[in-house]
Amino acid sequence: MAQLWGGRFTKETDKLVYNFNASIGFDQKFFHQDVQGSKAHVTMLAKQGILTGDEKNQIIAGLDSIVADVDAGKLEITSEYEDIHSFVEANLIDRIGDAGKKLHTGRSRNDQVALDMKLYVRDEIKELDELVKKLLVTLNKIMEENLHTYMPGFTHLQKAQPITLAHHMGAYFEMFRRDRGRLADIYERMNYCPLGSGALAGTTYPLDRAYSAELMGFAGPTMNSMDSVADRDYVIELLSAMSTIMMHLSRFSEEIIIWNSNEYQFVEIDDAYSTGSSIMPQKKNPDIAELVRGKTGRVYGALMSILTTMKGIPLAYNKDMQEDKELTFDAIDTVKGCLALFEGMVSTMKFRKDVMENSAKHGFTNATDAADYLVNHGVPFRDAHGIVGRLVLYCLDKKIPLDEMTLEEYKAISPVFEEDIYEAISIKTCVEKRMTIGAPGPDAMAKVVEWNKKYLEEK
Ligand code: ARG
Repeated sequence: MAQLWGGRFTKETDKLVYNFNASIGFDQKFFHQDVQGSKAHVTMLAKQGILTGDEKNQIIAGLDSIVADVDAGKLEITSEYEDIHSFVEANLIDRIGDAGKKLHTGRSRNDQVALDMKLYVRDEIKELDELVKKLLVTLNKIMEENLHTYMPGFTHLQKAQPITLAHHMGAYFEMFRRDRGRLADIYERMNYCPLGSGALAGTTYPLDRAYSAELMGFAGPTMNSMDSVADRDYVIELLSAMSTIMMHLSRFSEEIIIWNSNEYQFVEIDDAYSTGSSIMPQKKNPDIAELVRGKTGRVYGALMSILTTMKGIPLAYNKDMQEDKELTFDAIDTVKGCLALFEGMVSTMKFRKDVMENSAKHGFTNATDAADYLVNHGVPFRDAHGIVGRLVLYCLDKKIPLDEMTLEEYKAISPVFEEDIYEAISIKTCVEKRMTIGAPGPDAMAKVVEWNKKYLEEK
């Protein structure tokens, strides 16, 4: 049991207490960030004359050698240490002696852990953003290739109006684009450095906090030392943004599962992203999509967990906050895994364009357009709606789509119909006429694809 704080104790910590309290099992995840923070700290201490240049150099060399050994597998991070901070400090003192004992000058583990967690989250936000961006690139590519791939659009999971695959993918593009915006906002808001806040009340050493912040690429130092050690807002914001990403992935997964079903057959998931059944030889299951949908619950759980943990904590640091780590790490790893796999699944998925188009042609997705035809010929919309309702009823009875009715049959229901009704309700016309910004018309969507490309180049 290696602890940093034995001085005022006369008894050994109970073994169970030690294990319950220890965080090394999980905070070793930010080992590199802990060292990064320590290097910046001693660089600042030397600049301020609190350490000598020689002490600073010894400490930095010592820290670098610890990193090299850990990375090479020569030094193991073990549960002999209470936390990652103790591991680094103890190993440093072992290696360089007295200079190592000065590392923690003007610092508390409270501001240290606040810094480590921020550095870690900041790095992960960048990785998450890259993964979301990769998915966006894939989606825009599918959009570009499918401006003319007709399919039914649904409301209530009932066929509603014809759209294109580009349009459907474009909806998800917008969702994930907003997700990136949220990640960028969080990054900007959290990017202030807590180092130098001490345990809660700053320190009496003449620290240059702005300099430490600058060394680590922060926009500046945080402005209240109590808040600095007690703030986990950015963790909550990230979990919230990741929950939204998962909600989007989960909706998308649900659609892919439906589209991949025997009844729909709109898509075929690649063999590499499907699994079989141990008993039913014919099965090819969409397990990845189902797992992504399932793991969404886990990420929501992390958000609820940290919100609940934080709600009753008085200022400033309390040990409750150590609970932020496991769930945040797990949620980040889960979301990253889901994003990567999902992108792989979508980019290799086959879209069965013939099935989609055929589906759009049936189910009266052109009924609104038949009503619009009547409106264009002077019939008030409410009356037109009633007339087309009767057409649909007639077709249901005869088990045919609208465009298989003869002109005589049309005229029997309303004399306004002429030969050009067939052209007006063809799937092609229905889609192509929808040309307003954001609508499925191929010209409108082609512009969106270009805007998307520009956005992906710029951001
Ligand atoms: N492992 C602790 C955490 O994650 C580090 C801070 C410890 N500070 C303290 N005063 N016990 O929060």
